Amino acid sequence: MRIFSGIQPTGRKHLGNYLGAIRQYVEGQHRSAAVGDVAIYCIVDLHATTVAYEPEVLRERLYDTTAILLAAGLEPERCILFRQGDVQEHTELCWLLTSVTAHGELNRMTQFKEKSAQQRELVSAGLFLYPVLQAADVLAYRAHEVPVGDDQRQHIELMRDIAIRFNARFGETLVVPEHRIPDVGARIMDLQDPTKKMSTTGGTVEGTVYVLDEPGAIEKKFKRAVTDSGSEIVRSPDKPGVTNLLDVLAVARDITPAEAEASMAGARGYGDLKMAVAAAVEEMLAPVRERYAEIRPDEGALEDVLAAGAEKARAIAADTLRDVRRAMGVGPAR
Ligand code: TRP
Repeated sequence: MRIFSGIQPTGRKHLGNYLGAIRQYVEGQHRSAAVGDVAIYCIVDLHATTVAYEPEVLRERLYDTTAILLAAGLEPERCILFRQGDVQEHTELCWLLTSVTAHGELNRMTQFKEKSAQQRELVSAGLFLYPVLQAADVLAYRAHEVPVGDDQRQHIELMRDIAIRFNARFGETLVVPEHRIPDVGARIMDLQDPTKKMSTTGGTVEGTVYVLDEPGAIEKKFKRAVTDSGSEIVRSPDKPGVTNLLDVLAVARDITPAEAEASMAGARGYGDLKMAVAAAVEEMLAPVRERYAEIRPDEGALEDVLAAGAEKARAIAADTLRDVRRAMGVGPAR
């Protein structure tokens, strides 16, 4: 059982990213090790070049993301953590897979439609091919399981179709992966608009809690969280604000939402709930923030971690590429 996931080096990581992705990565690292496999995590700088960006900023954000992942508990000895651009097999496999990808399929990708509508200057061909590069990321490692947010469902469906089509056309070569959508983090809502997912692009600044926020900022954001009418602290569809706060409390304390609800039975009102969630989140994020502050300044050390990860990644990907080239009749037979 091999786990692979990719994470964007863009934006600041927020509570939704932390609970929905980063924490799953750490869990996956241990689950893989327990069965004698290794979880593989890739920071996707090549994907980040498909929309307008600044080269120096990209490199900074890549270090930020690397440091956050390490601070959150990824251990370079126990998993493979690397930068996509360091392993050329990704771009080569992307090209090879375009031959089994239908143009029409790419045209139907909702993320492509959304992102291309947002571009002011250029809708790049890279943006169009983005899902094929993502397929290459996963298929190069013959991964079985891909932990991703709900928004990546369509991209995973496509990479499955690509793998199935490749195997049918050229013989059994690639593993058809499955997605794994976490039940909790997938549902963390914006504190100012609990009907919308917490997000760097679509959400509100005051409603988004960042992993690196200072305790004071976290408290302020929770205190100002939008709640619902009434005063009962219960999870229910007509109380999206309160439900979200209880869900966050549950994951931060590692208890079930029902237990979170029960723990607030003696509360005097929403104010108590907000204070409890703020405290739980602060407690959960404090060690990450502290480790980040230690790790982030040493870019040389971060480069060392990424280089060692790339070497391990390359060894696996090169093996797949050899089989793919051979199956496709590209290059010499041996
Ligand atoms: N597209 C993914 C996102 O925006 C990032 C990503 C790139 C990815 N390659 C991947 C996720 C491979 C899973 C597997 O979140």
